[in-house]
Amino acid sequence: MHTTVGIIGGGPSGLLLARLLHNAGVDCVVLESRDRAYVEQRQRAGILEQATVDALRAAGAGARLDAEGLAHEGIELRFDGRSHRIDLPSLAEGRRVWVYAQTEVVKDLIALQLAEGGPLLFGAEVRAVEGVETDRPSIRYAHEGREQTLTCDYVVGCDGFHGVARTAVPESERTTYERTYPYSWLGILAEAPPVYDELIYAHSERGFALASMRSPAVSRLYLQVPNGTDPADWSDRRVWDELDARFSLGEEPGWRLERGPVIQKSVLPMRSSVTEPMRYGRLLLAGDAAHIVPPTGAKGLNLAAADVIVLARALADRYATGSTELLDAYSDTCLRRVWRAEHFSYFMTTTLHTDPGQLPFDTRLQLSQLERIATSPHAAAELAQNYAGLPL
Ligand code: APR
Ligand code: PHB
Repeated sequence: MHTTVGIIGGGPSGLLLARLLHNAGVDCVVLESRDRAYVEQRQRAGILEQATVDALRAAGAGARLDAEGLAHEGIELRFDGRSHRIDLPSLAEGRRVWVYAQTEVVKDLIALQLAEGGPLLFGAEVRAVEGVETDRPSIRYAHEGREQTLTCDYVVGCDGFHGVARTAVPESERTTYERTYPYSWLGILAEAPPVYDELIYAHSERGFALASMRSPAVSRLYLQVPNGTDPADWSDRRVWDELDARFSLGEEPGWRLERGPVIQKSVLPMRSSVTEPMRYGRLLLAGDAAHIVPPTGAKGLNLAAADVIVLARALADRYATGSTELLDAYSDTCLRRVWRAEHFSYFMTTTLHTDPGQLPFDTRLQLSQLERIATSPHAAAELAQNYAGLPL
């Protein structure tokens, strides 16, 4: 089989890229190792930046997002026993964010791709990418018990942090910059109304906590926990008691941590990683295959969307005009945005979490920084603009 663009991975990056290429009249095939149900149920962050929403709408995938997504115009920072609201539109040139789960974005994109896009194969596990230095690279994969080869003009690795595409770049030609954090998140999904209309990011001496939501009836809540935590050690009761202690909501009118059945519980590691460059020969990397961020600030999906928007434009231009100028600039164009988001995610993470070796001095610095954000419009605007996402 031959196609113009061979896409490895049917997560948000691969699926949105396929959609954008389809709309630009460029053929592609998506190879996804897992089955459809698995991909549609994988829990990930649920905040979409304005630019991501605009891209989904323009790609024809905005109908359910517009009907069911919740537009948010602010976030709450809670520290030192009080709360401070960051207003996004007034501080970030009118931009806001949407609460719409990644699982839903993925379902919408899969439905569109199967209805009117090019081939999307589930259960197609890529084993190797070959010939990326030639003009006819190929992808070897296993599907329905048979070894197959897909030849392409370009290969795009959208296969996430543990994918194989990155390893097709010789080690001498790539550099990975990374940091792991000395804590993880315990995430729960609960049949309980959201604590408040907006997300609450809480700093506390017991550790970080975050109150998010999936719908008016379902909460998504997170607690900072030590690395190596077994979710089985956290009974539902212990989770709720700890959330209560960290949010310490006592007197806030309209805020209520209502308990309900916990329907999912898991531990997420916190890592930052960037691999440079994002292109080698005819292989391009996008999304988590090239970079990951800790979830504080919810940049992962948005960065993935930004990559494939830039890439789809570059590939469309390549086939419309024959020029490779945009493709040649792809890595540098994306890495500027990637490093900004890496810094922001690191900043949010280290400002809000309690390091196991944290000195009382460090805690004072965090509180001073949070106080600065609460009292200086400049400091608040810096946070708001990064949170709502910089324009593409
Ligand atoms: N062959 C085929 N598919 C593969 C292979 C392989 N060898 N290895 C991995 N995959 C698939 C995975 O099963 C997964 O569906 O690639 C997909 C990668 O998807 P994601 O990990 O979701 O990465 P991406 O699409 O870049 O999305 C980034 O995911 O981790 C979050 O926070 C991150 O929201 C962001 C988003
Ligand atoms: C989520 O809803 O899963 C979420 C929201 C905001 C974050 C991280 C995760 O910063």
